[in-house]
Amino acid sequence: MKMRIAVLTGGGDCPGLNGVIKWVTKSALDQKIVEKRSVSFDVVGVKEGWRGLVDIDPDDAKSRETFLNPLNEEIVRTWDRYGGTNLGTSRTNPFNPKNDRSEKLIDNIKKLGIDVVVAIGGEDTLGVAYKLHKLGVKTVGIPKTIDNDLTGTEYSLGFDTAVNVITEEIDRLRTTAGSHSRIFVVETMGRHAGWLALHGGEASGAYIILIPEHPFDMNKVCSLLSERKGREINYSIIVVSEGAKIAGNHEILKDNKIDDFGHVTLGGVASYVSNEIEKRTGFESKSIVLSHLQRGGTPSAHDRLMARWFGISAVDMITNDDFGRMVSLSRGEITSVPMKEIINKLKLVDVEKYYDTDRYNGRRSIL
Ligand code: F6P
Repeated sequence: MKMRIAVLTGGGDCPGLNGVIKWVTKSALDQKIVEKRSVSFDVVGVKEGWRGLVDIDPDDAKSRETFLNPLNEEIVRTWDRYGGTNLGTSRTNPFNPKNDRSEKLIDNIKKLGIDVVVAIGGEDTLGVAYKLHKLGVKTVGIPKTIDNDLTGTEYSLGFDTAVNVITEEIDRLRTTAGSHSRIFVVETMGRHAGWLALHGGEASGAYIILIPEHPFDMNKVCSLLSERKGREINYSIIVVSEGAKIAGNHEILKDNKIDDFGHVTLGGVASYVSNEIEKRTGFESKSIVLSHLQRGGTPSAHDRLMARWFGISAVDMITNDDFGRMVSLSRGEITSVPMKEIINKLKLVDVEKYYDTDRYNGRRSIL
């Protein structure tokens, strides 16, 4: 039996995506393993995520050329070294109730002879994969999001590289903050979950870390800074997650835009915190938004390894007829979970376990 695997990347990009595509392709086409399988594969990359599979005209050769990228071991040989996604991505939701294009999507999948879709993405992209699975399309999910907030897995691709970027950038800020005796407020990504801010802040030794799971009080931020000033330390680094909320308030929105999955655009909390610090304490403070730098650049060694293991496992799942599931990391082992279990839930920071609400930082004791 021969099966055609289509692989696509959806949602925000991150380092590690090209590695997964490489390892899905390599393990699906590996000659030594092919002999042991009852099924053989061909692999095609779909450009621009779900948008590619919706917008393609299967009967038009030019359109197929635009949206499909047949893959082989030679093509993907070097891909794991590079960040971003060579297939492109989109935030298209084919099941958007305001413009439901799911019938066309399913029709296109059939017409293109695609037997299984490997979707690499976060909650939104995998939500579409799960809906397709319920409608009879074979799908396998691979977790990615620098926010690391997907449930059902301890790791999502991109997180480690992003934490490294945050750490490196804060190391840079420290020297200039020290020279000028300034406070720097650093805004990280993390829409709902504070993992990036918490791990980035802990790794870089930030004085204060503000996360969405624990709304913050500006008076408290200022008194922590004043307390420190008394100890003759001349600068401080504050890390704040873009989704952090001022107590009794909601997140700060960058604009009024809403994407295909209903998400608002966050941004501006670092600038708010920095301005308030200057106003309330008179300490000089500047803010910086790390933004998409956190998603850019080459993948860390950890992300390359996870990409390799996730990609290989996805092909094993297809070989075993294990559909409607997402590859996952659990207690250090690669396993899989039903996609049903990861939809409409997020893995948030357990404040009681990991966050010190007195210091506004990671816990120093678990007693
Ligand atoms: O979902 C991942 C994420 O990195 C969020 O933390 C952030 O809000 C969002 O993507 C920004 O995505 P973009 O600007 O690419 O639409």
